[in-house]
Amino acid sequence: MTQSLKEKILEKFIHQTKPLSGTQLAQEFQVSRNAIWKTIQNLNQSGYQIQAKKGSGYLLESLKREIDPLQISIHTKDSFLKPVIFHKEIVSSTNDWAKEYSFKANFQNALFIADQQTEGRGRYGNSFYSQLENGLYFSLLLKADPIIHQKLDYLTMIAALTLTKTLNPYLDTSLKIKWVNDLFYQGKKIAGILTEANFNLESQELTSVIVGIGLNLSGSFPPQNEGALSFAGTLFKKSLPKDFSKNQFLSQFLHQFCYELTRETKLILKDYEALLMGKGCIINFQHGSTHYQGTLLGIDEKGHLKVRLINNQIITLSSGQVHLGSQQFYQLDN
Ligand code: BTN
Repeated sequence: MTQSLKEKILEKFIHQTKPLSGTQLAQEFQVSRNAIWKTIQNLNQSGYQIQAKKGSGYLLESLKREIDPLQISIHTKDSFLKPVIFHKEIVSSTNDWAKEYSFKANFQNALFIADQQTEGRGRYGNSFYSQLENGLYFSLLLKADPIIHQKLDYLTMIAALTLTKTLNPYLDTSLKIKWVNDLFYQGKKIAGILTEANFNLESQELTSVIVGIGLNLSGSFPPQNEGALSFAGTLFKKSLPKDFSKNQFLSQFLHQFCYELTRETKLILKDYEALLMGKGCIINFQHGSTHYQGTLLGIDEKGHLKVRLINNQIITLSSGQVHLGSQQFYQLDN
């Protein structure tokens, strides 16, 4: 995709610590100095701070803090997924937005980000609370190319692992993964992942996959939702740390996701298992309509959960087969 002048200028400033003169920029991008000046005004109006320094040119003093597709695409344009980035303040569900976009002919890999959702969806038909002061709700639409086919069964785990690795450097204690798609921090669920596949109805071929992530950064949950949300928490309690940039986080997430996607499955699973919650503990789970109890042993080479039942029989469970209630994990992590 060709870059706009705005994107080219911003990219230049992002990689530059010294002031850049209007003449220099005009020559490099083969436009008039007036076009450069106008674009810089436009960038400033949209939340960047690019100051004119007497006699030496323009300097980028601060980046836009709100979610900014331009910044994220500059930082991820060399990643092999190279997604197009979209942002809206409020949508029904970013997974639905991504699905709608996937119906377009020649759609590309894309990232859909929202500050709030009115109909955020979780697994098993649950809703996902999506109106936190600082929630981050995003969906990655991936074309079904060979690498996606190859890692299809592991995409949710890859997303969980990527989120954990990307967020851990910002945190005091490590995040843990509740198999298969939930992230827990200090005993509370702070993120969930919903992966959905799109098929061509006639050929039954997989056309794309949507990996949707809801991340509770900071804020409080409404009291009327307390029952359903009693096990939900936020990463940063009530407010976002000053040095946390959602744009930087999303760019890092995308790079890490690309990296994990290309790794050998057994290495991915090894890292994933090391972060698994409740290993060696007694868990309760529901399989069909029956309730079971057993010791959580880990995951097998397919990413299925290994459990030793009370009669010593070892069984493996795929994610579609079993539901592990969150409450017991809250107790385990406390
Ligand atoms: C779960 O907890 O069961 C999964 C929750 C997934 C929520 C995310 S938020 C972004 C994307 N859009 C949705 O409607 N759901 C996912």
